[in-house]
Amino acid sequence: MSTLHPDLEKVLLTEEELKARVAQLGEEISRDYAGKEPVLVAILRGSYVFMADLSRALDILCRVDFMSVSSYGASATSSGQVNIIKDLSDSIEGRDVIVVEDILDTGNTLHYLFQILQARHPASLKLCVLLDKPSRRTKPISADYVGFTVPDEFVVGYGLDYNEHYRNLPYIGVLKREVYAKD
Ligand code: IMP
Ligand code: MG
Repeated sequence: MSTLHPDLEKVLLTEEELKARVAQLGEEISRDYAGKEPVLVAILRGSYVFMADLSRALDILCRVDFMSVSSYGASATSSGQVNIIKDLSDSIEGRDVIVVEDILDTGNTLHYLFQILQARHPASLKLCVLLDKPSRRTKPISADYVGFTVPDEFVVGYGLDYNEHYRNLPYIGVLKREVYAKD
């Protein structure tokens, strides 16, 4: 068990819990995509750790690709439009695509991104998120695979950041309010 980082209030998901759940998701996806060759599309940067572990939990052929988007944020625009900072390297036309994301929060980013990806005519398009915060949702989107449903608290670690920090923590914890109240 890793020691708790001083900026964190508590550990929400331990390394062991994450490992066990990611293994289950890997089994589930391997079963659902047996005989196929899905493309795992990770949305950078938050999902890099989840992607690395999830892809290694699959025992089927798969490809990996990466995309980076920036959100204008719900306050800046009502459309929730996102900018593509880095696009996929390969075409997804006719392929079975699984988008891999760290957390589904309001759903703005993924709702918009799914419209972009759907327009490229994949054979299928599914969503796998490590964390789901359903209480925050403002867009009609849900994930096909969910690691954990979490309460409305700001969490960091295992890829998730606050101001680009804490991504490398091997567990997921709740950030102390005083840390983000300073900014
Ligand atoms: P959405 O468009 O509101 O669903 O935004 C999702 C993005 O917000 C995620 O990909 C994260 O980058 C970020 N995010 C939302 N909640 C948290 C959190 O609790 N911790 C860290 N990042 C978060
Ligand atoms: Mg993110």
